[in-house]
Amino acid sequence: MWQREIRPGVHWVGAIDWDRRLFDALIPLPDGTSYNSYLIRGSEKVALVDTVDPTMKQKLLENLNHLGIDSIDYVIANHAEPDHSGSIPDVLDRYPGSTILATPRCKGMLVDRLVIPEEKVETVDDGETVSLGDRTLEFIHVPWVHWPETMATYLREERVLFPCDFFGSHLATSDLFVADEGRVYEAAKRYYAEIMMPFRSNIERNLEKLKGYEIDIIACSHGPVYDRPDFILDAYRSWVFDDPRNIVVVPYVSMHGSTRRMVEHFVGALVERGITVQQFDLAATDVGKMAMSLVDAATVVVGTPTVLTGPHPAAAYATLLVNALKPKLRFVSIIGSYGWGGKTVETLAGMLSSLKVEVLEPVLCKGFPRDADFEALDRLAVTIAEKHRENGFA
Ligand SMILES: Cc1cc2nc3c(=O)[nH]c(=O)nc-3n(C[C@H](O)[C@H](O)[C@H](O)COP(=O)(O)O)c2cc1C
Ligand SMILES: [Fe+2]
Ligand SMILES: [Fe+2]
Repeated sequence: MWQREIRPGVHWVGAIDWDRRLFDALIPLPDGTSYNSYLIRGSEKVALVDTVDPTMKQKLLENLNHLGIDSIDYVIANHAEPDHSGSIPDVLDRYPGSTILATPRCKGMLVDRLVIPEEKVETVDDGETVSLGDRTLEFIHVPWVHWPETMATYLREERVLFPCDFFGSHLATSDLFVADEGRVYEAAKRYYAEIMMPFRSNIERNLEKLKGYEIDIIACSHGPVYDRPDFILDAYRSWVFDDPRNIVVVPYVSMHGSTRRMVEHFVGALVERGITVQQFDLAATDVGKMAMSLVDAATVVVGTPTVLTGPHPAAAYATLLVNALKPKLRFVSIIGSYGWGGKTVETLAGMLSSLKVEVLEPVLCKGFPRDADFEALDRLAVTIAEKHRENGFA
């Protein structure tokens, strides 16, 4: 049970998931996560902003009991994903008089997913307001952060923005507000990379839209609350708007050490030319780290041996992720070793259709790399350094 007030009459009533290590059966959670739900009490009405993952519904109900809440007028569903909407049916059971407020698109998704009666959900338009008496909630549609139905809720009198996933971080912490900005920056950047980056143009539009609001607190639905909103708004602006930097990301895999030797040489050649490198052994790495490195990188070079006529499956997986995450990369290339032949380059290049990138001449070598192969890797490093310089990537 927790009693945590972020503003007078505005309580955090969520759940901290210290032990969860995987999200969406895909995303590593090295620091756990939280599902933040907020209760807002006005002079006449009470609203609950988002709920929690259904595995933790008991925590939410306990927190509401602890505050002595015996009725809720509005349950605001900013997002239909189950980590925020999944406990809505339990809240409706406990508080049968409540009405769900959601965007029209979210309404359909909630009815489909949670199998709740349509008449329990009222839709709200972009900019629409609802009065809680002395407090006003304004709904701001912010589509595609990171699903099509998403919105943010703004508590006007207190200038608190509840943007759900937008600006969130997967971080289990007992800090209600951000205490260690360095730690939260890392977690929020990882979250942005994994969840938000594929929707960069929508994020851009929604950041512009939020400029029209005075915001003192950003209370998102994962991680600690921002009482210094510029910290996370500036970080988002830089991740979204800034040019890529003089960084090469090298995800690679090697079965018998040949590709690894190429990677070692190549990384040295890049570093000698003043380039920052982030190297990931795909057999061991946390893919979230790789995703994070893609936020600022100008170039990715995938290292892979040829296996069963194509790239190693770990390299194919990493390439699929790079393509799906749509980072602001400008250049890609491939290096690796083969035994007799195959279609590694064609297969990997064909997997990058979502990126607007120039593919630089790959370097494949037969067996263990020799002098001519190292020279080819040096040439690739020179080309990358020149391309970065020409584009002013610093
Ligand atoms: C399971 C397996 C499948 C392979 N399939 C191919 C292939 O289809 N075509 C090819 O040229 N080499 C193939 N090879 C050979 C490797 O590409 C070659 O040994 C390469 O040098 C390994 O690089 P590494 O030392 O970085 O693992 C295969 C090797 C293994 C172990
Ligand atoms: Fe989500
Ligand atoms: Fe979420």
